[in-house]
Amino acid sequence: MSYYRISSLEQYFKHYNKSIREPRKFWGKIAEENFTWYQMWDKVIDFDMGEADVKWFVNAKVNIVKNCVDRHLARRGNKTAIIFEPNDPNEEAQHITYNELHQRVCKMANVLREQGVKKGDRVCIYLPMIPELAVAVLACARIGAIHSVVFAGFSASAVATRINDCECYMVITSDGGFRGDKTVHLKSIIDEALQHCPTVHKVLVVKRTGEEVNMTYGRDMWLQPLLDEASDNNVAEIMDAEDPLFILYTSGSTGKPKGMLHTTAGYMVYTAYTFKNIFAYEENDVYWCTADIGWITGHSYILYGPLLNGATTVIFEGVPSYPDFSRFWEVIEKHKVNQFYTAPTAIRSLAKESIDYVQGYPLKSLKVIGSVGEPINEEAWNWYNDHVGGKRCPLVDTWWQTETGGIMISPVPFVTPTKPTYATLPLPGIQPVLMDEKRNEIEGNQVVGSLCIKFPWPAIARTIWGDHQRYKDTYFSTFPGKYFTGDGALRDEVGYYRITGRVDDVVIVSGHNLGTAPIEDAINEHQAVAESAIVGFPHDIKGNALYGYIILKEHGETRDQKNLRNEINKLISDQIGPIAKLDKIQFVSGLPKTRSGKIMRRILRKIAEGDFSNFGDTTTLLNPEIVEEIKSGRIE
Ligand code: WT7
Repeated sequence: MSYYRISSLEQYFKHYNKSIREPRKFWGKIAEENFTWYQMWDKVIDFDMGEADVKWFVNAKVNIVKNCVDRHLARRGNKTAIIFEPNDPNEEAQHITYNELHQRVCKMANVLREQGVKKGDRVCIYLPMIPELAVAVLACARIGAIHSVVFAGFSASAVATRINDCECYMVITSDGGFRGDKTVHLKSIIDEALQHCPTVHKVLVVKRTGEEVNMTYGRDMWLQPLLDEASDNNVAEIMDAEDPLFILYTSGSTGKPKGMLHTTAGYMVYTAYTFKNIFAYEENDVYWCTADIGWITGHSYILYGPLLNGATTVIFEGVPSYPDFSRFWEVIEKHKVNQFYTAPTAIRSLAKESIDYVQGYPLKSLKVIGSVGEPINEEAWNWYNDHVGGKRCPLVDTWWQTETGGIMISPVPFVTPTKPTYATLPLPGIQPVLMDEKRNEIEGNQVVGSLCIKFPWPAIARTIWGDHQRYKDTYFSTFPGKYFTGDGALRDEVGYYRITGRVDDVVIVSGHNLGTAPIEDAINEHQAVAESAIVGFPHDIKGNALYGYIILKEHGETRDQKNLRNEINKLISDQIGPIAKLDKIQFVSGLPKTRSGKIMRRILRKIAEGDFSNFGDTTTLLNPEIVEEIKSGRIE
């Protein structure tokens, strides 16, 4: 019997129970039967949750790219691996076969080695959604270099922080990129970032927009001439199961971004297994995930998961609104997409436009539709289900995180009955628990609590780059011995999970995970600002938007408020990115603080929401009178 594919509800429960009773047998069998290894493991798992120490497939040797590409060549050499759909619908789409992908990755891998990249070196990839991004990621993994993809919407200072944190040796970027009717000048952003990045020795530049760029002699090189010269013969590095595969930064509720480190074998096994099941992928299907490869969704479910299964995966360079709001549906028809995976924020932004944009498209090729990144509200769920899924495609609401590496709680299509706004059941191997304020596990159903996972799964991040203590403190100390997700959840009468949102100081804006502390740090650098507090509030399209309460220094109070607001948002935009801009800014004379000096954010959240009822216990406030002032000055 194979555990790789779940095909009925009965089988789901059987596999699930097996995975809990005998996790070693369960994952050992999946790993053995579905991948090629240079050497098998001594032990399936070794762990100590107290120390935040987890190892899977101990001492096994493997290369993930051999599994993503090389092993498919015999059977699927001429099958399309990647369909590239450019930003401009008039530019021809590209179909890259597994043979071609192999050749391109091998050449790129040779270029990287020739430029001095060695196993274990960090390479920052700052590229638009073009095939070279996939090739660069896979070439790094092939030679054992640790890729750190930085979303190409981040500002120079945000890229510099990420480059310096993991001390990248190389940056791979492009002259620019196309996004809707805009062009982004990536190389010039990198030039600015690299003024503060002493470890970067080489910059490879892909030509995409053809715009003029500055090339620093001895450091910067156009990629294409190097590829033209490179051999397509490349021997992949033999990697240990626990060798680092990549770093991906995610915002924390405090301090600088966290470089989540994922390792090789566990990540490989888990992303392949979850892709196969959550999307019910069959051999000739065309799969499309609209995320950016700069996020974990793109890593796991545009590249690794699909390619590990020999799938055809679409890479889309553009945005849902260009040239108009029917672009997604146009692309689904054009490439006969079978599985479509997108974010609630995209759904909401399309649902508010005329229904004609979607109604003209039958979308008959679709079999499964998916959602990821934030809770999907009921209206958006229904709209997606009715108008895109035609009420016939199962809608999989997939809950997971950068830290989890792969999908954790989700319906299995055609297996798990769906329920609007519910991520439903944990996948085999995943043991969710809800915890109460006293740190006890809440038993039974129809309960709410903080969502934790009590046993390791293969794709769990192994550490925060350079700061294992922070990893332990953030994820394993709130509820000792358990992985704490930072989310709250509800378990209904049949055991289905509904994720209710963050319980910490992270706000999810348009599906982007934003820590409030780094935004406050940016604002506080403004010379007129004394102190600030940022909270999220519900927003129709973005899910959440940001509300800033700002105390000005004395001289700031005489300044024009409109100018100040613009300057503050410019600062945020420069330091973090436009996504972190504040929708509303209220200047206040104080912030509600506890006697220990902690800002009572609960109250600020309620005011931002416009909910003036029940502020909870405010007796511990040092300055209760400030609440009235803030209430009356609330920005609508
Ligand atoms: C946070 C993780 C998962 C990849 C993209 C985001 C929220 C994610 C769902 C969902 C409700 C969700 C959680 C989580 N989230 N998926 N289906 N339902 N909330 O990865 O940037 O690491 O963010 O996104 O709050 O903790 P991320």
